[in-house]
Amino acid sequence: MTTMRFASTSQYQQWQQDKLAAAATAGDVHPIDNPDNPSAEQIAAIAQQVTQCGFALYRLPEGFTASRQWLIDFGEHFGLRRLDSNLCSDPDSISTLRDSGDNQRKRGYIPYTNRPLNWHTDGYYNPPDQQIGAFLLHCEQDAASGGENGLMDPELAWLRLHDENPRWVEALSHPEAMSIPPNIEDGKEIHGWMTGPVFSARADGKGIHMRYTARKRNIRWRDDATTLAALTFLQNLLESEENGVIWHRLAPGEGVISNNALHCRKGFENGSGKQRLYYRARYFDYIKRT
Ligand SMILES: [Fe+2]
Repeated sequence: MTTMRFASTSQYQQWQQDKLAAAATAGDVHPIDNPDNPSAEQIAAIAQQVTQCGFALYRLPEGFTASRQWLIDFGEHFGLRRLDSNLCSDPDSISTLRDSGDNQRKRGYIPYTNRPLNWHTDGYYNPPDQQIGAFLLHCEQDAASGGENGLMDPELAWLRLHDENPRWVEALSHPEAMSIPPNIEDGKEIHGWMTGPVFSARADGKGIHMRYTARKRNIRWRDDATTLAALTFLQNLLESEENGVIWHRLAPGEGVISNNALHCRKGFENGSGKQRLYYRARYFDYIKRT
């Protein structure tokens, strides 16, 4: 099964050329001059960047502090309405990400600590009908040091794998490519086995959905030489810190809006007045293609 269909070789080459050209702009930061009433032009520029690169960085004016409601309204400009309420989100479905110390560390919830986070897409452990289409990650306060985010367009990862060996993207599109074991907490099963492809066609038919984690523990990969070779290539690609991998340290008032791009985080250290604080919203919707 292939996740991307092209009518002809020249159509593929055009897509490939466009993707590679757009990747050079992926690190651009889009200003939002009037956050209370963002201009149609600035919203369109961000939506276009997401279409081309899988994600876009934005920056609010200095002195403007985004409320949680502002984030919800901001998402709606891009057609993002169906928020996912995960285990650790607050009642408004927005998660507050900060170092909550040893308790979270012991429970294995790395996002709520200061530790590095491996490359992944969000919700890779969700059932097929609850895949995460988009996320919004907003920095209210950066850490004293560290905490840079790595970002990569899943379609660019698909392209790199495909151009190296088309069988690799086929292997990662197998319905049993990646399985996540059940999550059991205090004797209660939160989810059972979650088995599915890494790459699949988006439900709206307008691009690729990616389900991935570089986490080594508790992941079962389809035991097949092609799958394992593809994974090694992908891991090396993400660790290369080039080839379309963007590193950005979000400053206060900056954020990422994305069609569930690949992302990771370096570890960080808080200091006096510099307690890293991020907000995150996850959606079942995708940002519409422009
Ligand atoms: Fe994430």
